[in-house]
Amino acid sequence: MSEQRQIHEHLVETRRNGVAVLRVNRESALGALSRGMVEALGSYLEDLRVDDEVRVLVLTGTGRGFVAGADINEYSEVSRAAFDGYQRLSLEVFERLTRLPQPAVAAVNGYALGGGFELALCCDFVVASTAARFGLPEVKLGLLPGGGGTVRLTRLIGAPRAKELVLTGRRMDGAEAERMGLVTSVVEPAELMPTALALAEGIADQAPLAVREGKRLVDDGLESGLGAALLREQQSLSWLYTTEDAREGVAAFLEKREARFLGR
Ligand code: HXC
Repeated sequence: MSEQRQIHEHLVETRRNGVAVLRVNRESALGALSRGMVEALGSYLEDLRVDDEVRVLVLTGTGRGFVAGADINEYSEVSRAAFDGYQRLSLEVFERLTRLPQPAVAAVNGYALGGGFELALCCDFVVASTAARFGLPEVKLGLLPGGGGTVRLTRLIGAPRAKELVLTGRRMDGAEAERMGLVTSVVEPAELMPTALALAEGIADQAPLAVREGKRLVDDGLESGLGAALLREQQSLSWLYTTEDAREGVAAFLEKREARFLGR
């Protein structure tokens, strides 16, 4: 593992083999996100977007907390404008994560509540430890999710199940989230990072342009009509065929050797 890089007082990054691991390191508040943390996450993602060295991002937390939501201390006695400002900022940063060209894996170690659950939903994969707990408890505060929770969750699991979670605010474990199709695997806590890193490195080893294009095609395909999505798939494939990496991949297969992808 490379040196740790401090992104913010509560955000630490390490890198290895094309995988960046960003850890939320605020165990005393179970990873709750202050405005400063959301801002720092936003600039981090902006830089990562154009960082070719990083092929996959893994997002995780510390101890019992992945991210227990927005920092509720900052919800108390602020003006409506300040409250709205925090919500808008969060939504914008979460959208940035969704649109990150590199795939992102959420390695959920503990509480992923409110904005923390939304953050996980913005990742392409969620790997959960048996200690993970997911939920949108905002209704218990007299509020509702504001980082895309009602929208993204509904698209992923359907309206009745999304409403049940949004309107009761109840928590669910990784096994239930897996049954809903939100989580790709549930493992013992000690296996969480090895599992998330194996997934990330398995992707980081592939041709970078094909990986980015694949992520985009799946996401865009969900948003557009079948005909347009199929056409875009053909166009992407046609473009990928012209890349050096595709020539290298095919040559390596025929020469029975490992491909060396350069991302061009
Ligand atoms: C600030 C938080 C926090 C939060 C936990 N803490 N969650 N501080 N904001 N969201 C702090 C507690 O105040 C406490 O600090 C310490 O973390 C440990 O938490 P406890 O409550 O003592 O632990 P436990 O009894 O085990 O309960 C864990 C918990 C509970 C079930 C996760 O902390 C909880 O319900 N937290 C709130 C979760 C929530 O409502 N999230 C949604 C926020 S709204 P001290 O100093 O007392 O030790 C939201 C909207 C997002 O996310 C919109 C877009 C971004």
